Amino acid sequence: MEKIKLVIVDDSVETRNNIKLLLSFEKRIEIIGEAENGEEAVFITREAHPDIVLMDINMPVMDGIRATEEISLSVPESTVIIMSVQGEQEYMKKAMSAGARDFLNKPFTGDELTKTILKTYDIESKRREHSAITRSYEEIKSTVITVFSTKGGVGKTTIASNLAVGIARSTKKKVALVDLDLQFGDIAIMLNVSVKNTISDMIKEINQLDRDLMDDYLVTHFSGVRVLPAPIKPEYAEYITSSHLEKIVNLLKEHYHYVIIDTSASFHETVLAALDMSDRILFVSTLDLPTIKNIKSGLDIMDSLHYPKDKIKIILNKASEQFGIKYKDFENTLKHPIWSFIPEDSQTVITSANKGFPFVMTRTETRVAKAIMGMCGELVRENNSINEKPTVKKLFG
Ligand SMILES: Nc1ncnc2c1ncn2[C@@H]1O[C@H](COP(=O)(O)OP(=O)(O)O)[C@@H](O)[C@H]1O
Ligand SMILES: [Mg+2]
Repeated sequence: MEKIKLVIVDDSVETRNNIKLLLSFEKRIEIIGEAENGEEAVFITREAHPDIVLMDINMPVMDGIRATEEISLSVPESTVIIMSVQGEQEYMKKAMSAGARDFLNKPFTGDELTKTILKTYDIESKRREHSAITRSYEEIKSTVITVFSTKGGVGKTTIASNLAVGIARSTKKKVALVDLDLQFGDIAIMLNVSVKNTISDMIKEINQLDRDLMDDYLVTHFSGVRVLPAPIKPEYAEYITSSHLEKIVNLLKEHYHYVIIDTSASFHETVLAALDMSDRILFVSTLDLPTIKNIKSGLDIMDSLHYPKDKIKIILNKASEQFGIKYKDFENTLKHPIWSFIPEDSQTVITSANKGFPFVMTRTETRVAKAIMGMCGELVRENNSINEKPTVKKLFG
């Protein structure tokens, strides 16, 4: 059993010896040091980090009240118990407000002494355990994934929303989904969540924004995914800047293991900011010439931004070779391999969008759901192999 480490502080040798004697049969308490004034007490406490400091009040050089104050500020893991003589009530009150946790009236019996030490230690350990839970947070390794295309209607929103839900359900990690199609965002409709606040309400408070406040702006989908909806009106979009977006994404990263961003088909400054901050860009294409041409220009722009090649993953949606273009030709044109193929399945995709139920939850047997779940698995695996285990960071002892 861990012993309670004690330091005795009193200017009288006799008192210190008495206390040692009273505690000599107490196996749970170990006296690790003694001091004859406040200054020595602070010094020993800083060096030895005792659990309990038994502190007299009236002492030369530095009195017990000042010493208590210093200890509770600089060595908060050591707890002070004040010893006072009857009639020193005023001092005792001061000591308690200086940070002492309990007090003993001199003279005291061995039983009173032991009980007070054990009780104080017990309460303090419980308090500390509790505050370690509430004040520590998991330092999260967050992954930002942006679903992008230089073409509208290719399936970005379908993929982003099913991907978010798929990752949340398969990993049980915290997932945030940001609708960055600022003019015509439809994530909220696709997932059938009722919108109270949107990203435009959030930026009104951007300077006060912290983790907790930010959480109030997100709505919860029943899968557990937390959604930040796009503005209610297209004209609100112009007030949102790249620095707003950076701040929002950085805050989300503190709290969510995965931040998934759905975008519009443009290189708007907010979209560029999202692409810059992303660990992965899922670039969605379909297999028709106008789209391929646009995707090619988009990839050229990304080349000029010097993104590492494996940051960009090409997704071929509604994939089929039956319309005259071969996958190989597509890859050769783009000089990028196709990372994932998603089959066309209007029945499943459109019905689930109309009902607001993501098909990765409701139609798991379909090929389109399996393709998205395969993507989820791949992204999560890659992510786990890059990031080591999350560490618990304590803010305060
Ligand atoms: N794999 C698919 N099979 C069938 N229809 C699809 C598929 N992916 C998307 N769609 C449909 O294509 C249309 C555009 O999809 P959406 O996700 O809104 O694209 P974007 O966000 O790129 O504009 C929607 O009607 C959607 O239901
Ligand atoms: Mg969309």
